[in-house]
Amino acid sequence: MTIKAAILGFGTVGQGIYKIIQSKRQQLYKLLGDEVELESVLVNDIQKERALPEKIVVTDRFEDILSQRPDVIFEATVGAEPSFSYLNQAIDQNIHIVTANKVMFAARGHELLQRASQNVGIGYEATTAAGIPIIGTLKTLLQTNQVTKVQGILNGTSNYILTAMQEEDKSFSEALHEAQVKGYAEADPTNDVEGHDAFYKLMILSQLLYSRQPVWSEVPLTGISHLGQKDLQAAKRRGEKIRHVASLEFVDGILKGRVEPLSLPSSHGLFSVEGVDNAIDVTGDLVGSVTLRGPGAGQIPTASAMIEDFVQIWQARSIRLQPSLL
Ligand SMILES: NC(=O)c1ccc[n+]([C@@H]2O[C@H](COP(=O)([O-])OP(=O)(O)OC[C@H]3O[C@@H](n4cnc5c(N)ncnc54)[C@H](OP(=O)(O)O)[C@@H]3O)[C@@H](O)[C@H]2O)c1
Repeated sequence: MTIKAAILGFGTVGQGIYKIIQSKRQQLYKLLGDEVELESVLVNDIQKERALPEKIVVTDRFEDILSQRPDVIFEATVGAEPSFSYLNQAIDQNIHIVTANKVMFAARGHELLQRASQNVGIGYEATTAAGIPIIGTLKTLLQTNQVTKVQGILNGTSNYILTAMQEEDKSFSEALHEAQVKGYAEADPTNDVEGHDAFYKLMILSQLLYSRQPVWSEVPLTGISHLGQKDLQAAKRRGEKIRHVASLEFVDGILKGRVEPLSLPSSHGLFSVEGVDNAIDVTGDLVGSVTLRGPGAGQIPTASAMIEDFVQIWQARSIRLQPSLL
């Protein structure tokens, strides 16, 4: 049998998934017992040149994707719609789904999870800090712990800018320009530097940990674009570092979220996080503070999280189909 895959969105992340399906063909076969074949790709503009073999269907109609009857859909488009509607339809047809789309998943992920029967796997590791296995860690390693606090550097672009401002004495606009030249920041960096991107990831963590989210409009959201070199240098003189921190915490029994620049002392778990790295510090009532750190964006780290999600989904399915393995 062949495992039939479809990719929605063939930009940075979608192409990364295809590269891994090709470069890890043998490893995937060993892990899954079947070959994974990309059969169809959904894009916005079918006129664009795509480096894909002719046998792969490239379409702008989701019906064409469904008609191929894929086993798994990797979703790497942008925005809450039409991705949510597409994934809903996929769930109705018992197709496994793996997404990187944080905007959609923060707003509607819980609906997808509720709708999916136990025969449908939903992977969303890539939505939050891309290559860092924070979703898997929280799901599997912190089940008995009550997580009392989460603090994260969840956006690589803003961390790169703050690092360059503090360590190399660059201005905000010089550091942003450098991030854009290196491909870390988009032409319109608003979502990154004003904290929207970190906010969506924080909401996904909140949903996973507490089965709910703070009221979105009540979450204080402060970006980093107002910060000047004097702020960063003053922190340096105090032996501290300014970092853009997203946090979740219960205050008087109420779940509170915040996204804001904070001046961190050297004892803080996020103090040493430099450049485009992301990190998440989770405090559990039994384990204490645990910090995970790594690449929070990028083509291969993000696609890697999606492929790993799929491997887990497929392996769990195989165990369900063969109860004797239990
Ligand atoms: N890039 C990262 O490092 C990263 C990390 C974590 C998560 N993510 C998330 O992953 C997703 C994809 O990011 P990306 O960087 O790969 O974006 P991208 O390079 O802009 O690619 C987006 C792709 O989606 C397609 N697309 C957009 N709207 C569509 C629609 N309505 N119907 C069909 N196709 C549509 C585009 O088609 P055309 O090619 O025809 O324009 C393009 O191929 C986003 O949700 C992003 O937040 C990205």
